Amino acid sequence: MFDMKGKVAVVTGASSGLGADAARAYIEAGAAVALIARRKERLENLKAELIAKGGRAMAVQCDVSDEESVKAACDSIAGEYGKIDVLLNAAGVSPLGSVETLSEKDWDAAMNINLKGTFLMSKYVIPHMKKNHYGKIVNIASFNAGKADKFEPFFRHAYNASKAGVNGLTVAMAASYGQNGITVNSIGPGLFDTEMTHDDLIENEGFMSWFNSRNPMCRPGGKGDLNGTILYLSSDASNYVTGQFILVDGGASIVDIAGLDM
Ligand SMILES: NC(=O)c1ccc[n+]([C@@H]2O[C@H](COP(=O)([O-])OP(=O)(O)OC[C@H]3O[C@@H](n4cnc5c(N)ncnc54)[C@H](OP(=O)(O)O)[C@@H]3O)[C@@H](O)[C@H]2O)c1
Repeated sequence: MFDMKGKVAVVTGASSGLGADAARAYIEAGAAVALIARRKERLENLKAELIAKGGRAMAVQCDVSDEESVKAACDSIAGEYGKIDVLLNAAGVSPLGSVETLSEKDWDAAMNINLKGTFLMSKYVIPHMKKNHYGKIVNIASFNAGKADKFEPFFRHAYNASKAGVNGLTVAMAASYGQNGITVNSIGPGLFDTEMTHDDLIENEGFMSWFNSRNPMCRPGGKGDLNGTILYLSSDASNYVTGQFILVDGGASIVDIAGLDM
């Protein structure tokens, strides 16, 4: 059920972190992958790594917030592979700031990349999925789609809003496209060690000791920790699952605040 041989998976945010890791997992599961991000050299390096492992991969430079760029990317992927079965929307940015401190530019970046990027990629991939009456869309939302930090300097109001939007779009698309054989689900990673989080959070000793004390698994997510859930939602193992939001947070979301920080 988890086998992805013969499937074509498009991965946005494939130039680093969770997207790059997921591309490796897709190749191990037997899929061909199309790697999307803006940093072309990184994509070419990952492509070479995946091909060396015996996989089929292509690198497509694309800005997911730009409609022309997304359309051209999806056309070239469908041209190369002849179809698209899976879309993993992992591209994202996470600017710091509250409604009082965020610049309009940072607000727009979060909305345009995290939310509009998910919309645009879906817009140009879904017609290919409809043709085969088969598709799996997996949106990387966040633990912070439904929860927010109480204290500075961790405010990320634009990020919170954009990821809640991703979950709203997930439900809307799931309701509409089930009849086309397409499932749409989202994932809420807790804290994972990637470029997005490494300098500000993972390297912050005080923060990590607080985080580890409130997380049932006592650690942040590491390499591969998200891939089981991504493969589940990207493969036939989840054919009757749609419109769902699955938290992969080491259990952080189920801990009561009583007794913490004492
Ligand atoms: N790490 C965590 O703790 C965590 C927790 C919850 C959710 N998430 C979510 O997981 C996803 C992956 O994040 P990550 O942790 O792996 O961070 P990351 O290492 O910073 O990766 C972000 C990726 O998004 C791509 N990207 C950014 N803007 C783009 C654009 N306009 N067009 C195309 N690609 C773009 C980046 O590539 P280029 O710069 O090359 O374009 C990069 O590949 C994000 O949606 C993030 O919000 C992460």
